[in-house]
Amino acid sequence: MGFRSTSVEIKGPKEIERMREVCRMAAETLTLVGEMLRPGITTEDINRFVHEDTVRRGARPAPLKYKGFPKSVCTSINEVVCHGIPGSQVLAEGDIINVDVTHIYKGFHGDTSATFYVGTPSPDAIQVTEVARRSLELGVAQVKPGARLGDIGAAIQEFAEAQRCSVVRDFVGHGIGRQFHEEPKVSHYGTWGRGIRLRPGMTFTIEPMINLGGWEVRVLDDDWTAVTADGSLSAQFEHTVLVTETGVEVLTARAGTLKGSELYPEYFAGPRGAER
Ligand code: MF3
Ligand code: CO
Ligand code: CO
Repeated sequence: MGFRSTSVEIKGPKEIERMREVCRMAAETLTLVGEMLRPGITTEDINRFVHEDTVRRGARPAPLKYKGFPKSVCTSINEVVCHGIPGSQVLAEGDIINVDVTHIYKGFHGDTSATFYVGTPSPDAIQVTEVARRSLELGVAQVKPGARLGDIGAAIQEFAEAQRCSVVRDFVGHGIGRQFHEEPKVSHYGTWGRGIRLRPGMTFTIEPMINLGGWEVRVLDDDWTAVTADGSLSAQFEHTVLVTETGVEVLTARAGTLKGSELYPEYFAGPRGAER
């Protein structure tokens, strides 16, 4: 069994094996989502696909009925920051959409998301999506025993703000395991050297939400959908990670490329990335 220090659970070998299993499944479902996305489908089509694929694996979709959330996946388009509710909205050419998949299997949670390009993206869509993608990579790169939780947010904030983007403050990453959301809270902005020390056996998510405009968000009347206050585009990527004895293991790493969310190399090479 795991034990807790500073209220953050340390997972033992058996729990880590379970986490590997559920996280691999969630990553596989997300990969399949990439293959079904195209202009003209609805977010409800994505919901149905994720629900059925999850159940087919013998897992359960964690979002369904979580604190009253009505669907099995979160679908967040364009200015929607997170927690978008699937429904009749049709994906349009040029949209960006984050699909956030969380499975429960044998009592453990695996949580992962990506932002996908629907058709050909605008330069703004590429900008915010590639900054979010890189932000997650930089956050993950901070994870090792002895590092501080604040190092993750500091690395992300430093990069994202240098790219003239902002980091959402009202939503954070989280410890994960038997609970969907456990301690610690993983802020995506912060200060180097601050926060608890990371220890082997900790499992948590890193899930930076990056806005093209300001970081402020507001929640719509459905009490879930969070949008940018200024209507600017927002993108997010999420992995569940394990602190190992030597560094980090990305539990929701994908086997191959993610169709519909391929890296736009022009972004880092081209003038726009440097200029903005
Ligand atoms: N998957 C989200 C996260 O990364 C949480 C969604 S909660 C829900 O933490 F209720 F909206 F599903
Ligand atoms: Co999460
Ligand atoms: Co998630």
